[in-house]
Amino acid sequence: MENKDPKRRKIDETMRRLLTGAYIPTLQLGTYRMKTPTGPCKTALSLGTYGGIDTASIYNNEAGCGQAVKSIVNSKTRKREDIFVQTKLWRSHQGLTKSSKSKMQAALRSSLKKLDLEYIDLFLMHWPGPGRHLSKPPVRKCQDKKFGWASADRDEIPGNDEVRVPTEWTPSMRLQTYKEMALSSGPDKTVRAVGVCNFSARQLEELIRFCEKENIVKPAVVQNECHPMLPAVRVREICSKHGIVFQAYASLGSGGDTLMNHEVVKSIAKSHERTCAQILLRWAVQHGMVVVPKTTNKARMVENSRIFDFTLTSKDMSKLDSLSNKQSESQTTKFCWLREHDPDHY
Ligand SMILES: NC(=O)c1ccc[n+]([C@@H]2O[C@H](COP(=O)([O-])OP(=O)(O)OC[C@H]3O[C@@H](n4cnc5c(N)ncnc54)[C@H](OP(=O)(O)O)[C@@H]3O)[C@@H](O)[C@H]2O)c1
Repeated sequence: MENKDPKRRKIDETMRRLLTGAYIPTLQLGTYRMKTPTGPCKTALSLGTYGGIDTASIYNNEAGCGQAVKSIVNSKTRKREDIFVQTKLWRSHQGLTKSSKSKMQAALRSSLKKLDLEYIDLFLMHWPGPGRHLSKPPVRKCQDKKFGWASADRDEIPGNDEVRVPTEWTPSMRLQTYKEMALSSGPDKTVRAVGVCNFSARQLEELIRFCEKENIVKPAVVQNECHPMLPAVRVREICSKHGIVFQAYASLGSGGDTLMNHEVVKSIAKSHERTCAQILLRWAVQHGMVVVPKTTNKARMVENSRIFDFTLTSKDMSKLDSLSNKQSESQTTKFCWLREHDPDHY
């Protein structure tokens, strides 16, 4: 979203200001695992309460998301500058090709082409590391009925434990790729702001030091998994210190019912006559985060957007804050990626 006339723009809880001066909506629609996103994205954008869409090249649905944005703009329901569109650079697009060309530039062109939009509001680095565990995980996560992807069950994959980091990958590849992303961004460029996902506190501090040394823009947004059971306190503190907007993903537990069925969440929901989803999203908003809950269901979309008309008490907030344990501070992911995928190895 552009910041053409800041004085005329009323800031409230439904948007946050980025380091670039532009605004990011507090509520956007997530699209992970959404194979046909055009319908749901159009529905969300038509509601007016969703300020934008979160997609990624690896979701393989950028084209459908872009179609929804164009359709809404063509119908004159909303202007392009009032819709925030964010996509992500997949980890295999870090670094250079064998002929020393930037993989990032090619990936960005491909995302823009698929979205069929002139620009994106935010371009996020999807993953900090080389992801050896992502392509060759030592274990396979199991999904069960009760806990979904949060199930504790794991299948070992023989042989993958031996697989090490791709030999061409180095931590400086991540920093150089970020630099290219940063240099490709600006108010009149095809990328308006840049950010990162899934960075640990250590990786984020390293990146911020690098930005200061190289005199390039700091990430405007950090998008990490965050909810009361993985509150990402340290990363949020760093973001707050540097004026970086923290965007929470998996706010609802990513499809499992560990969070949505938690007794504490349920009792707070009951006391406010709200749903568990609304309590979890409101917790994030009251901590200053922006959110990207995913649903394809219109009634749930409406439900998830009704988070700006009530307030949790400080007692409610403390009860929710206490759902995490000590171990959760040392990990970056819980429900979405395996602990074994946790990126802070590199
Ligand atoms: N950067 C990253 O690495 C990363 C990783 C994961 C996710 N993300 C982004 O963050 C977004 C959100 O995360 P997520 O999709 O993993 O999980 P989420 O938003 O926590 O949860 C989505 C799940 O909750 C269900 N749901 C939504 N609203 C509900 C409600 N009111 N009541 C009951 N169930 C409800 C959805 O089912 P229905 O669709 O059936 O309603 C879906 O199964 C993603 O879509 C993606 O855009 C980013």
